[in-house]
Order: sequence, then C-alpha cells, then structure tokens
Amino acid sequence: MGLRALFLDFEEARARAKSFLPRALFEYIDRGTEGEQALVALRSGFDARRVVPHVLRPVSQIDLSARYLGDQRRSPLIIAPTALAGLVRFDGEVLMARAAAAAQVPFVVSTQSSTSIEAIAGQVPQAELWFQLYVWRDRTQTWKLLDRIARCGVETLLLTVDTPGSPKKVHNARNGFGVPLKPSLTLSLDLALHPRWTVGVMGRYLAQGGLPSYGHYPGSVAKAVTAAIRDERFALDMVLDNAFIAELRRRWSGRLLLKGILSAGDAVQAFEEGCDGIVVSSHGGRNHDSAAQPLEVLPGIRRAVGTSATILADSGVQRGSDAAKLLAAGADAVLLGRAPLYGLAADGEGGVVTMLDQLAEELRAFMAFTGAPDLGALSSCQWVG
Ligand SMILES: Cc1cc2nc3c(=O)[nH]c(=O)nc-3n(C[C@H](O)[C@H](O)[C@H](O)COP(=O)(O)O)c2cc1C
Repeated sequence: MGLRALFLDFEEARARAKSFLPRALFEYIDRGTEGEQALVALRSGFDARRVVPHVLRPVSQIDLSARYLGDQRRSPLIIAPTALAGLVRFDGEVLMARAAAAAQVPFVVSTQSSTSIEAIAGQVPQAELWFQLYVWRDRTQTWKLLDRIARCGVETLLLTVDTPGSPKKVHNARNGFGVPLKPSLTLSLDLALHPRWTVGVMGRYLAQGGLPSYGHYPGSVAKAVTAAIRDERFALDMVLDNAFIAELRRRWSGRLLLKGILSAGDAVQAFEEGCDGIVVSSHGGRNHDSAAQPLEVLPGIRRAVGTSATILADSGVQRGSDAAKLLAAGADAVLLGRAPLYGLAADGEGGVVTMLDQLAEELRAFMAFTGAPDLGALSSCQWVG
C-alpha cells in the first residue's frame, strides 16, 4: 500500500501551503488587488461555464498532447513565472525546475526569481527553461540580461506587458510584506507562528550565508529581500511601446511571446511585430481588478489572429476542468501560477509533480466525461453559460 498522498487537489494543497507559509508570504501569493473582484470573476467565470456531454460516442483513449510554437508536446501544461518562488521552499526554483523536468513541462523562470537562470540551468540541465522578462530602465543592463539568458540555452522569452502601474495590495502593506522586507512585530509574530518555514526555509538560507534576493540583479544592487533596490538603472520600466517590442525582436533571435494580452487588437499587433505567440492572461487577478478575464476574451482573440497562431493562456486555473475551458475557448496550452507554488509549499519537488499529475488527471477525466478524445475536440464542444 502506498503512502497517503499529502493532498488530492488544488484546495488541499492550498490549505497545506496556508499552514506552512508565513501569512505575509501566503497572502502575497494567494490574494488579488483592490477589492479582489478579479479573483471572484475568474472563479465564477469557470464555474458558470458548463459543457453538454456526448455520452453516445465514448472515447477509449484520451490524448493530452498539445501543439504550440510549432512543437508537439506531451501535455498542455506549463509552469508560469512567479517572483521569489525561492522563498516558498529552500532552493524553491531549483526544485520547481526538477519537477518540470520530471513532468516534461516547460518552466518559465521569472526576472525576479531568487535563483539566477545560470544556477537553475547549471543544476537542472535536463529542464526546459523559458524566461520571463521585466525590463530594466537601463537598457544596456537589460540587453546584458538577454545575453545571459541566451548563454543558458533558453530559446523562449516571455515579455510581460500587463503591469504598467503598481497594483494596490492592502494585504501586503498590512502584513509588512514587500521588498525591502522590513523587520516588524507583525512579521516576527508571523515567523514565530510558522516555525516549519522559519527553520526549514529561512533558517537554511541564513545558515548558508544570508537571505535570498533577486537572482538576476547584480549583488551590489539587490543584496537581500531586506534591502531596497536603490539603483535607478534597475527600476522596472513598465510602460512598453511598439518601438521597444520591435527593438527586442531585433535583439532576441529565439521565440518571443507577449504575456498579459487581453485585447484582440493588441494580439494582432503582437504578431505584426514578429512575436511568435501571446499569453492571454489577467496575471492571475493580481494586477487590474476590473480587467476582463481570459475566458471571456479568448474566442475573439483566436478569431482575430487565426487558427495557426500560438495562444497560451492563464489565470485562475485550479482544476483540470478550468484548463479544459481555456483550451476550448481558444488556448493551445495553459500556464499555472499558484497551483505549482502550492504543490511546492506542500511537499517540495514531489508536491509540484503531484499537482501537475493531478491537474492532468482531472483534465483527462473531464475529456472522458465530455466525449472529447483530444484537445482539438474541446473546441467543438457545446457549452452553456
Ligand atoms: C506569487 C506570484 C508571483 C508572480 N510573479 C510574476 C512575475 O514575476 N512575472 C510575471 O510575468 N508574472 C508573475 N505572476 C503571474 C503568473 O505568471 C501567472 O500569470 C498567474 O499566476 C496565473 O494565475 P494563477 O496563479 O491563478 O494560475 C506571478 C504570480 C504569482 C502568484
């Protein structure tokens, strides 16, 4: 008899993450922005969409293989970029890369990861690493970062374009969570109440010489999460225009995708600028509380860019059925943000693999119940709601 699984679905993994992580870190991951209506809209949007199953054409074999960016893949799942995943577990990004390699899915490393792409690629050469770019004000430094990424063998770059401002997050302010992380009574209590994290994650980092920081910033600029980034050259340049995308396209010879598209017009423009794909995303409901949700806009975007263009999508996926609904609405593959982070918090590398397996199993079950033998068949399903 096998060991009892630590969690059986997203909700159980989330509950484990909630008890393991300091509240400030859990809420940084879990919560939204302003009144958190985007989170409500994401959940209720998926829940309200219901499929009409075909039961008189049973399928004996379900094929989860996906085709995007010109490649045939085993599954439509991808691990999304998430800043500071190294705080969730000791060496969190390396564990994430190992899990991605085991599950044979790509892992998108964030510009704001706590471990550098060189260190991740060096320790997990078997992982397929993509990179998510936030642009630094000093373009020379940004282009240097691109060279570093390319030297690590990264072929796919996601430029995040959906954060032109700073989202209002009351919970972070109240919990004392931010970079720089300032010592406070609230944080000290939080750490004392979560000793497994404080000893097992924070303690191990301290024993190795200090708190983690942003892995891609020069050491003199980002010393630790407790230190402010004062060097203006490394401030994020969030307002990106066509001229920048054209320049990036000239400088980056690999695949380029824009992440955070919700408008058909922007999608068409991205392909006109020579991008290889887009990620239709509302940033997991973390940025713009009034923004439309991917499920609502995907069909229009697919119609606008045509059947052969690569469209990835994310935001709010907690179940295989959520992923199925994005795929049916026009996505070729689905990125997961919080789900793998909760798997990581619950059970390290193995927890991420379990989470990916469970989502794939749920997707397979959805397809069997619906009468869809492959992902392509999802788009011809009949939907209500
Ligand atoms: C803790 C956390 C940190 C994130 N950091 C980044 C980031 O650095 N860059 C980025 O493009 N998106 C970032 N995202 C957004 C994810 O890439 C993704 O779009 C989103 O999480 C998908 O929604 P989901 O979490 O509901 O799956 C982050 C998300 C979370 C939860």
